[in-house]
Amino acid sequence: MALPTHVRIVEVGPRDGLQNEKTVIPAAAKIELIDRLGATGLQTVEATSFVSPKWVPQLADAAEVFAGIARRPGVRYPVLVPNEQGYDRARAVGAEEIAVFTAASEAFNRKNINASIDESLARFEPVVARARADGVAVRGYVSTVLGCPYQGEVPVADVVRVARALHAMGCYEVSLGDTIGVGTPAKARAMLLAVAEAVPMPALAVHFHDTYGQALANILACLEEGVAVVDSAVSGTGGCPYAKGATGNVASEDVVYMLHGMGIATGVDLEVLVETGRWLAALLGHETSSKVTRARSAA
Ligand code: HMG
Ligand code: MG
Repeated sequence: MALPTHVRIVEVGPRDGLQNEKTVIPAAAKIELIDRLGATGLQTVEATSFVSPKWVPQLADAAEVFAGIARRPGVRYPVLVPNEQGYDRARAVGAEEIAVFTAASEAFNRKNINASIDESLARFEPVVARARADGVAVRGYVSTVLGCPYQGEVPVADVVRVARALHAMGCYEVSLGDTIGVGTPAKARAMLLAVAEAVPMPALAVHFHDTYGQALANILACLEEGVAVVDSAVSGTGGCPYAKGATGNVASEDVVYMLHGMGIATGVDLEVLVETGRWLAALLGHETSSKVTRARSAA
């Protein structure tokens, strides 16, 4: 059980966090959020999503947002891309890293991207091929790895199959998403270990939503098995509009606090991150979901 000495946090707040917000947030505020996050020491800030604006109206301003970021050297700004049309839009504003996304459950995929798992993988083939030719890095997401809002249980073999396919296609990293936050540590560990037989552990990341309050425990279980990349969202925002009952991502502040408390480096300045989370919660008019930020505010 050798824990990693350094964990890379993939901050997904500007994308996974905001995509579920009902009130439209101005592009300028999204840009400020991304720039603030880039100043915390985070190495990766997922900026936005070039999906269909009919499906996710909140991120219809993806091009304006991406073009407005003051991109910092040393920080990567991946964007979600569902198809070639999204790839064209992302490249037109200079995106250098993209993420493709599918799920281990057929029912969820239908609702989320209007395609079966195999159709979605076939749709990604030309996207990934073009990205490779253009020198664009590609990350892959597998959703519903520990349960599906429509199908219920998701067999681990299905998660393994999809993760293997994304990696074989050319995704440098595959993020395993508990989209609706139903997983518990023993299940998370078993799922990760099964996937790691098909995709090398250094190419795996974990993405937990905290619906049932299990996210930090799940992350710790996965760290103990050797994962060293964790997705999280500042202030614990987030959820997928096509995953019934999915609430926020685990809060980045809480992940950083846990990791630093265990002597694991992240490169993130917790105080600056907490300040950013407070600013975002005020902007959205929600109470923060970060326990760390709440504790700091009460102190
Ligand atoms: P569709 O309706 O089947 O596609 O949607 P279509 O090809 O028939 O296109 C319909 C319309 O959208 C057309 O416009 C296209 O031009 C347009 P019309 O002719 O009607 O005027 N369109 C686009 N416009 C801009 N950019 C594009 C694009 N593509 C098509 N890229 C599609 C299929 C995949 C496009 C749609 O289902 C979609 O965009 N889905 C995205 C849903 C989404 O973003 N979900 C949240 C992200 S996943 C997630 O949150 C989970 C994750 O966090 C991990 C986890 O937690 O598990 C990653
Ligand atoms: Mg998510």
